Amino acid sequence: MTSNATTHFTSAPRTGQQRDAAILVTGAGGEMGHGLLSALSRARERRELILALDVRELAPEIRAHCDHAFVGDICDHALLERLLAMYEITAIYHLAALLSTRGEFAPETAHQVNVGGTLNLLHLAAEQARSHGSTVKFFFPSSIAVYGMPDLATKRSAGLVREEQYCDPHTMYGCNKLAGEHLGRYYAHHYRKLSKDRLAHPIDFRSIRFPGIISAETMPSGGTSDYGPEMIHAAAAGKEYCCFVRPDTRIPFMTMPEAIESTVRLMSAPAESLRRTVYNVSSFSPSAADFARLVGEAFPNSVISFEPDAGRQSIVDSWPESCDDSPARTQWGWKESHTLESAFSRYLLPRIAGRYRSVASEGTGESSSTGARPMLAK
Ligand SMILES: NC(=O)c1ccc[n+]([C@@H]2O[C@H](COP(=O)([O-])OP(=O)(O)OC[C@H]3O[C@@H](n4cnc5c(N)ncnc54)[C@H](O)[C@@H]3O)[C@@H](O)[C@H]2O)c1
Repeated sequence: MTSNATTHFTSAPRTGQQRDAAILVTGAGGEMGHGLLSALSRARERRELILALDVRELAPEIRAHCDHAFVGDICDHALLERLLAMYEITAIYHLAALLSTRGEFAPETAHQVNVGGTLNLLHLAAEQARSHGSTVKFFFPSSIAVYGMPDLATKRSAGLVREEQYCDPHTMYGCNKLAGEHLGRYYAHHYRKLSKDRLAHPIDFRSIRFPGIISAETMPSGGTSDYGPEMIHAAAAGKEYCCFVRPDTRIPFMTMPEAIESTVRLMSAPAESLRRTVYNVSSFSPSAADFARLVGEAFPNSVISFEPDAGRQSIVDSWPESCDDSPARTQWGWKESHTLESAFSRYLLPRIAGRYRSVASEGTGESSSTGARPMLAK
């Protein structure tokens, strides 16, 4: 079923007169896609297929959670048209994006993928809704990068920042995410305002502004909040780590299982309980020094230094120290599962240490020789 060099099915989709109902996950091969596909495959209704789309081939363990996987680009209109023709898509989890650090090196490309690609997916959802006559649910992972604190003094004195405050992003990625939030609201409530045959609400758009997300399963890649997770992964692998922000740098974080849980929870909330389209969530707000302290306690041989990079520091300094997530708590029951300490002791350390020990022993045939033995007695 290969149509061109960059777009192909990794398994043959079912064909027939009737289109199969399906959930589409874009960016399925990334850090979040990994956990989300597994959660969706556990929770889905039996009649819905799970479709994955990514520019990269999926790893076999991710591939196992979906029915059909496509290698292709969200900017490829022909591919999206084919999906529209082949499936009755009832929900889209649109994760594909170029993250903040890469986006700042190639801002125009980031705009094409992050805004152009999001527009394509929103259009696909609206066309789906027209073709089967019912609303398509759409999940959009936004980011604290939509905020732009004017200076460090304001950041430090702002307290809990609400969704509508300080939305003046300093990065292309932040601009793109804010644009995605606005486009989602437009498609949900105002799409084709002047058309006589318009559907009033083609899309049920729901978005979370995620803080930095820490995953034990995957290496971070290209996020400006990645210094926390990078520090932990480096210590577990027995490598020195030079942190690109100052020790006093503070932004909100959560663990990847909490990010997945919040996504599933928001998407299953009754529409009548939701009074916003975009919600803050966060679990804890450590400084970079807090991360380094806990890593040092867990891996006594770890070596962490601080050498702030002016550009990346200025980006993190433009993000709030902490966000007000009370609308998420009261409207759809968001609640964190972890403090920073429990995230380390109960989630990160057992999994990350096991992961690097098995990598080391695969290489040497022995147990880890990196000196990265975690202290798990918490
Ligand atoms: N991880 C975080 O800390 C964090 C925080 C806030 C928001 N988010 C958002 O959550 C989403 C998922 O993040 P992640 O951490 O899994 O990112 P990731 O970089 O690990 O995954 C993104 C995936 O999108 C794919 N992709 C990129 N361009 C594509 C294109 N043109 N067509 C198809 N696929 C493409 C990549 O191959 C990758 O597998 C992103 O939208 C990101 O902006 C992440």
